[in-house]
Amino acid sequence: MVDNKWKAAGYADEAVPEGVDMKAEIRRMAKEKNAIIMAHYYTQPEIQDIADFVGDSLALAQQAARTDADIIVMCGVHFMGETNKILCPEKKVLVPDLNASCSLAESCPADEFGEFVKAHPGHTVISYVNTTAAVKALTDIVVTSGNAMKVVNSLPKDEKIVFGPDRNLGNYINSVTGRQMVLWNGACHVHEKFSLERILELKAAHPDAKILVHPECKGPIVKVADKVGSTAALLKFSQEDSATEFIVATESGILHKMQQACPEKTFIPAPPNDSTCACNECNFMKLITMEKLYNCLKYEWPEIEVEQQVAEKAVKCINRMLELSK
Ligand code: 13P
Ligand code: SF4
Repeated sequence: MVDNKWKAAGYADEAVPEGVDMKAEIRRMAKEKNAIIMAHYYTQPEIQDIADFVGDSLALAQQAARTDADIIVMCGVHFMGETNKILCPEKKVLVPDLNASCSLAESCPADEFGEFVKAHPGHTVISYVNTTAAVKALTDIVVTSGNAMKVVNSLPKDEKIVFGPDRNLGNYINSVTGRQMVLWNGACHVHEKFSLERILELKAAHPDAKILVHPECKGPIVKVADKVGSTAALLKFSQEDSATEFIVATESGILHKMQQACPEKTFIPAPPNDSTCACNECNFMKLITMEKLYNCLKYEWPEIEVEQQVAEKAVKCINRMLELSK
């Protein structure tokens, strides 16, 4: 039974009984319930380690579309759970803490975005996957940082495009493709916080280090990058490049997989500009804990719901992205 206090909290707040081997129980419940545990690279290391599948936003959507599990447990943020539910309406989709939001999704309320779209008739609407289902329902094609360039390049050169909500990713695409997409003015609070000055100080101390940057970062940070890409693209580059040191300007959770894949290489998290903290974390992603994952599987709650009318509209633009990403 789901407690009313939990409903108010947004997650099942129950202590794991003493003596329970939480990891073994999570794996046992997942097997018994035919559930797949998926995790984003920004989640805590132990969550990534227990997951069946870890990926960037694109890979997570692709995996959801092909899984034959009955339950998807999405260890990530709310929009990722919504995307999975839209792709798999017949499955139960769980996110261990409903408070796991995203500042980019929050920066783009559907009613205001609807007005913005109306103000630009004749434009194709491209939305970053970091949006609510309601915004996706107003969208022609969804993109992730992993395929945005490919999707935009697939459209005729003179196509008029509205792009939202990330102004940094939008500016980056405009600068590389020479397009003039009209941009919604949203941003990610984590990626906006990187300090160019502190990255350059790190580079001076580690002159051979390559700088890896997520395109949600501001333009000046992107300019000093050796590689700009999605979390999966940055991970791949760090494995394939001959450099042995990397300064990583994205959420610091990705360092776990980078270090696991290349234990002999050095990965230095780029610091934010507003504190003495050495690395930059997404407070929403870090809400997903082992205890919440355990309770989520035990009670099969919190479950993601998407209104059918919204889902029917939103699925088209997500499927268009998946088609164009093949
Ligand atoms: P990726 O698509 O690169 O995994 O990024 C998701 C995200 O939330 C970045 O902040
Ligand atoms: Fe959203 Fe930024 Fe967190 Fe990614 S890092 S989930 S864009 S708030």
